[in-house]
Amino acid sequence: IVEAVSKKRGERVFLVGGIVRDLILGINNKDIDIVVEGDGIKFALELKDMLGAKKVKTHEKFKTAVVVVQDDLKLDIASSRLEYYEYPTSLPVVEYGNIRDDMYRRDFSINAMALEIDSYNFGKLIDFYGGYEDLAAKKIRVLHNLSFVEDPTRIIRAFRFAARYGFELEKDTEIFLKNAITDGFLKKISWPRVKQELEILFSDKNLTRGMEYLNEYKVFVEINPNIKYDLEMKKNIERLETLEDLLSFVKIKKWLLVFLIILENLKKKELDLVFNKFNFSNKFIEKYDYGILMREKILDQLESADKNSDIYKALNNISMEIIILIHIQNRKKEIKLKIENYIYNLSKIKPLIRGEDLLKNGELPGIEFKEKLRVYFMKQLDIENPTKEKILKM
Ligand code: CTP
Repeated sequence: IVEAVSKKRGERVFLVGGIVRDLILGINNKDIDIVVEGDGIKFALELKDMLGAKKVKTHEKFKTAVVVVQDDLKLDIASSRLEYYEYPTSLPVVEYGNIRDDMYRRDFSINAMALEIDSYNFGKLIDFYGGYEDLAAKKIRVLHNLSFVEDPTRIIRAFRFAARYGFELEKDTEIFLKNAITDGFLKKISWPRVKQELEILFSDKNLTRGMEYLNEYKVFVEINPNIKYDLEMKKNIERLETLEDLLSFVKIKKWLLVFLIILENLKKKELDLVFNKFNFSNKFIEKYDYGILMREKILDQLESADKNSDIYKALNNISMEIIILIHIQNRKKEIKLKIENYIYNLSKIKPLIRGEDLLKNGELPGIEFKEKLRVYFMKQLDIENPTKEKILKM
């Protein structure tokens, strides 16, 4: 259908960016970025009609559109463009350009390839800057010497692609990157953009490599000079990497735990500053502070807990992020098992005895009533194959 629309409109159309890179590497990538050499918005509107897609969202200012084919299938469509910077880190001036211009404004050669998907040259790889060769040679290479200066976010992007694919920074690229850092360009990235790139890096596999880059090139220092990526932190990151199943079970993002691990040694004031820079919500910060404050006590309670109800009482008021942090930091197998028991089992159990059961027994609502329900629930946690009758009899 893309082919048909392109033929009708007489425009060339390409898959671009990450999806082309990952197709060549044989890696799954669900972000479908399409560039039209012509009018991306008009193209998107026609494509929507031809596909019978759900909707299309357009951004006139950027000449881009998103065609929502189904909830889990979106096509990002842009008009090929030329971008240039009037001064380093300024917002780029954007004009229509051809596909070559569009590739030249990109960060690295491996991200600057296009795959033609129109009827003119279907399946042709457009690779002006040696991306294919660099993929084979496992190199991260910028297209020109001002790349990091014009968009310093690319400094962090270089680390994340290098870490993710196990690639090296090409020699000149590494020099340009180091110069950009020495000249203070890391400081010019806005915090939301740093967070956005770190979130992706921290979510990737091969995390330790990424952390080493961030440490070596002083990105951590930029976040806070007291972040020390030491052996203990490295080990904690490695332990986190083994907890993917647990994280997906509780639906907690890995990147959030990585943040908590690296911020571990900061004093309260510094920590608040970092949380604010990265826009963590007040609600999150409160829950975090409470959990950290209680950490020693929780550990004592867990240590002596020998019944399910003891484990439940220790962890029930603590946020899941902190519970997992304690799991990661603690060496004792026994404590880890208790925490896993809480996460996988205890935290999912619903009370069998409910308010209406007590009302039926003629009890009146009040503080005692609530306390009774809690006691019943604790009993339920401690007996095997609990039923209402068994609990009420105890
Ligand atoms: N891009 C760029 N400079 C940036 C950000 C993006 O040149 N600072 C270009 C690259 O060509 C990149 C494309 O825009 O491939 C899409 O960006 P993004 O979605 O951030 O990256 P992906 O390459 O798709 O990587 P990922 O798989 O991590 O999403």
